[in-house]
Amino acid sequence: MNILVTGGAGYIGSHTCVALLEAGHTVIVADNLCNSKAETIDKIKQITNKEITFYQIDVTNEKALDTIFSDNLIDGIIHFAGLKAVGESVEKPLEYYYNNLVSTMVLSKACRKYGVKNFVFSSSATVYGDNTVPFVETIKLMPTTNPYGETKAMSERILTDIAKANPDWAVVLLRYFNPVGAHECGLIGEAPNGTPNNLMPYITKVAKGELKKLRIFGNDYPTVDGTGVRDYIHVMDLAEGHVAALNNLTEGVHIYNLGTGQGTSVLQLVKAFEEANAIEVPYEVVERRPGDIAACYADTSKASIELQCVAKRDLLAMCRDAWRFEKESLGRKDEN
Ligand code: NAD
Ligand code: UD1
Repeated sequence: MNILVTGGAGYIGSHTCVALLEAGHTVIVADNLCNSKAETIDKIKQITNKEITFYQIDVTNEKALDTIFSDNLIDGIIHFAGLKAVGESVEKPLEYYYNNLVSTMVLSKACRKYGVKNFVFSSSATVYGDNTVPFVETIKLMPTTNPYGETKAMSERILTDIAKANPDWAVVLLRYFNPVGAHECGLIGEAPNGTPNNLMPYITKVAKGELKKLRIFGNDYPTVDGTGVRDYIHVMDLAEGHVAALNNLTEGVHIYNLGTGQGTSVLQLVKAFEEANAIEVPYEVVERRPGDIAACYADTSKASIELQCVAKRDLLAMCRDAWRFEKESLGRKDEN
């Protein structure tokens, strides 16, 4: 298939481009590079030895999308492009609602205009809110506590209504749990701007000595060791989940969790990282982070049964690959 990948230069998008190209699909990327770099496109080509068509455009720009849809015969779209920092979304709600919602609507309009009926959307486990684990796709969603989360719940709703009105569309809503790690070759990975907010990129910066110690946000949660529990999934397993979704497109709206189904606490992740890489990660326990929940992990039965999609890479691989990317592509501190 010819797949339009919005946000294809970003963290999850770039790994998915690799998986798509390796599965024999053709990839067209649309990205405005607001949180990524053009060189990532070259790295995807280098890894796969395949070509990619790249448009540096904003996907809220209807005219720019017209050019892409009229230049290329598109079979389906995977919509990753969006702003994703929870804290920033509280500071800049308008930017988040505008970017994340308008992009979804303008892309849907372009799909309708050009007869593209396959739409895969990047949603998030954040739509479940503070529910009972494991999260099953059918549980009643809880209100999210920040604009970012709202944009995911609203985009899901918009696409669901569009699919209802257009029964020949296949809309797939993929709810990601916590993607971590990097492609095994170390060329592409997660490179957040500034100090990372998320756990794994923070750990790799501490391991490298760029940050002094990890602050563990609370050890009084009702979990195995008191620290927060999450479902970490290797980004290549997540990427391959998109290929599986494309292989199983059917009319209607289909929602899938993409996780491993395994809960891992902050302390367990720190220990796994230390063991996988034989390196120490100093930490201290501090106050809970506002808005955090105790535990979040997936019931993965639906994706495993309907998409035959099961995460293959374990926690040690996630830790090893995250560290390899940090060392090899983001530069060693002792070489600076
Ligand atoms: P990312 O920031 O690395 O990638 C997003 C890409 O979209 C970037 O390359 C950015 O330049 C581009 N972009 C943003 N707005 C755009 C616009 N208007 N036009 C064109 N390009 C635009 O983020 P990611 O981690 O790869 O996340 C991809 C998607 O998955 C996002 O929608 C995010 O909300 C969702 N998601 C991410 C996580 C996570 O933990 N990383 C979890 C759940 C859901
Ligand atoms: C993040 C996103 C959420 C998204 C989810 C799934 C935030 C605030 N939330 O949530 O919207 O749906 O990923 O991809 O970004 N932790 C520390 N110290 C740190 C950083 C994190 O102890 O320096 C802890 C957190 O308290 C949490 C766990 O590590 O228990 C994971 O945190 P993080 O990586 O930020 O992801 P989530 O909070 O799960």
